[in-house]
Amino acid sequence: MGTGIRIVGDALSFDDVIILPGLSPVEPWQVDLSAKASRSVGLGIPLVAAPMDTVSEWRMGVALALLGGIAVIHRNMPIEEQVEHVKKVKNHPHVVLHSVAVEPGDECCRVRDQLRQWGLRDVPVVAPGGELRGRVRLTALMGCSCGTPVAKLVEPAVAYDVAAVEDAKRAVIDGKTDAAAITLERRFLGAVTFEEAVAEYRPVVDEEGRLRVAAAVSPFDTRRAEALDGLADVLVSDVAHFHNVNVLSAAARLARNLVSDFVAGNLGTREGVLDTLSRIEKVDGLRMGIAGGNICTTSGVTGVASPTLHAVAEARAALVELGVASSETPIIADGGIRGSGDAAKALAAGAYAVMAGFLLAGTDEAAAPLLRIGGRLYKPYRGMASRGALQRRYAADRYSRVSKKVEEGIEGLVPYRGPVRGVVEGFAEGLRAALGYAGASSIPELWEKARFARINSRIGAYVGTVKTEL
Ligand code: XMP
Repeated sequence: MGTGIRIVGDALSFDDVIILPGLSPVEPWQVDLSAKASRSVGLGIPLVAAPMDTVSEWRMGVALALLGGIAVIHRNMPIEEQVEHVKKVKNHPHVVLHSVAVEPGDECCRVRDQLRQWGLRDVPVVAPGGELRGRVRLTALMGCSCGTPVAKLVEPAVAYDVAAVEDAKRAVIDGKTDAAAITLERRFLGAVTFEEAVAEYRPVVDEEGRLRVAAAVSPFDTRRAEALDGLADVLVSDVAHFHNVNVLSAAARLARNLVSDFVAGNLGTREGVLDTLSRIEKVDGLRMGIAGGNICTTSGVTGVASPTLHAVAEARAALVELGVASSETPIIADGGIRGSGDAAKALAAGAYAVMAGFLLAGTDEAAAPLLRIGGRLYKPYRGMASRGALQRRYAADRYSRVSKKVEEGIEGLVPYRGPVRGVVEGFAEGLRAALGYAGASSIPELWEKARFARINSRIGAYVGTVKTEL
């Protein structure tokens, strides 16, 4: 006799398991974190920024590609705007540019205070339209009588074309300027500061040496996909339930003619992956996980979910069944990654990269304004099916499909975490240590070596659970 409820199996989540340590010939510094976002797009670290309008626009795209990851530019904006964000990443030099500049009309005493705050001895002067007018030095500002516009104190700029970024770095290191202006067709793009001049990056680049970037598309939005195809390195399907006959048919039509890689998703089951791979000719990656995200309310609203860890294992099972290598059709684990521990589990289960929104939302490069509330700094973070995000979508794109009337995400604030570089470096160090414990020197080796065990209680103080400030 059955129970009356048809249970088809267990669906494990990150907190249900741990990776068991193994005999290790590997030190963390020997670990190679090379990963893949899709069939032909390799990464230096297994990190993909989620296509969310409080996370991934061109700034996140540039920063992550410089650090070895990739961002998926969100689609909650008109097509032309999304194309512009992708182009900005593609045309960006291999350095983070800071938007430190003042305007010719700015009042000199205020500029003097601003320079002190920035810790700079000079700064580019840029007209409101973006034309570089020169630079102003702190020494010239010291004796100025308050009220004088900076225009009166402007000297020739220390400026370099975008192609000569290395010369700009040298100028900063040699002390010719603290903020070398970078221009494209005489327009100010940003400034190289000392911190960036000495920073070492291992950027992820395409065959022409341009930074890699991905873009989100709906399988129904042919115009958007056509505009982005060949420009973005990867087009990432951005629908909540890809295992739907209409979505599968639309994606099959769309993917057939694409030049860029195409990542299908979101999917949650082995059957979903098998149907996807049998019905769609071109699938260059799988975005796995349903309702596992930190801002998701789908499981509460609908009772439906496929936790990210489970979804990854399901995809791996489908690939094994088909005899497809996980390095050929990479799995991206999407949703609920709180830090490197969750990411290590997702990778150990078969993913080649993890997609993260929450993890990156509090950083400078995230596409949301910095807010000061009660003396503390925050950044807004919201689900793409939250009320605010849906309102923006319908305002931006009148062709967007209204397929559901319920909200499936929340809007909130996350603590400010500074430059994304610090977050990514901590994440990579955590992963190196994880692979070291598991005795794996690379992610493919982790797939072979990792052994999981179920746990029934928390082990130690998990990332994010301990309040250090009382
Ligand atoms: P994290 O946990 O990294 O998750 O913040 C990011 C992923 O969450 C998904 N996403 C949503 N899921 N309602 C949902 O059920 C939403 O409003 C929503 N917005 C984003 C998406 O897969 C993303 O990559």
